[in-house]
Amino acid sequence: MKQLMKRLVPRPLWNFVRSTRNEVRFQSALKEFTDNPQKSLSPQSDVLPRLIAGWGNEGWSALSEYLVASLRAVNELDGDTLECGSGLTTVLMGIIAQKNGTRIWTLEHHAQWGDRVGRALKRNNITSVTLCASPLKDYGAYAWYNPPLNAMPDWFALVVCDGPPTDTKDGRFGLLPVMRAKLKAGTVILLDDAIREEEQEIAARWAKELGVEVQMLGSEKPYIRLRL
Ligand SMILES: C[S@@+](CC[C@H](N)C(=O)[O-])C[C@H]1O[C@@H](n2cnc3c(N)ncnc32)[C@H](O)[C@@H]1O
Repeated sequence: MKQLMKRLVPRPLWNFVRSTRNEVRFQSALKEFTDNPQKSLSPQSDVLPRLIAGWGNEGWSALSEYLVASLRAVNELDGDTLECGSGLTTVLMGIIAQKNGTRIWTLEHHAQWGDRVGRALKRNNITSVTLCASPLKDYGAYAWYNPPLNAMPDWFALVVCDGPPTDTKDGRFGLLPVMRAKLKAGTVILLDDAIREEEQEIAARWAKELGVEVQMLGSEKPYIRLRL
């Protein structure tokens, strides 16, 4: 039936119907999340899978394990969060931060993607997020975001590191040299995509420089945790 519909209905109309349906599903799951984030994080809940499907960026969005770890950490740690690479994570972390009176500072290098995330924040009245969208900066040995360091807090309790993409100069490495002064005792860094050799190498370099241990977590799609 779906195949027949796809053949009969013009592609732009089909795309419109599909994106509207996804949006409705997303907003309905987001309401459930906002009403009770803790319940949505339990393994029995289907809210996160529905949010991931409704957001519609599979392959790029964090999967449940990393998402749950990030959301729990935002809820438990007493301080602000730095996010590298915005998306569904930003919206959900923003909802929790708003309830807890903390802030999310999110760094985004892709202008159109930043617009999409910004629209989702606005539409859902999420005011606890500072979205810093600007192109990556070339620091010589690596390229990384160009954060507004002077406006940012002196210390971040949490770093959710899911960007920039690996094909940029030295990938995610720049977090440490650029943000070093704001990563202090107690800061937790959660690095996604730990299955990749690039991320494992970067985590090992960070750990050596910081004198901390690398913890590999997650069973479906591993992620790395470092605690200063
Ligand atoms: C892994 S994504 C971050 C995803 C975000 N943490 C989440 O879970 O929704 C890292 C970066 O990839 C870029 N990106 C996101 N979706 C993309 C897509 N579909 N195609 C290309 N780049 C994308 C954005 O610049 C984003 O900051």
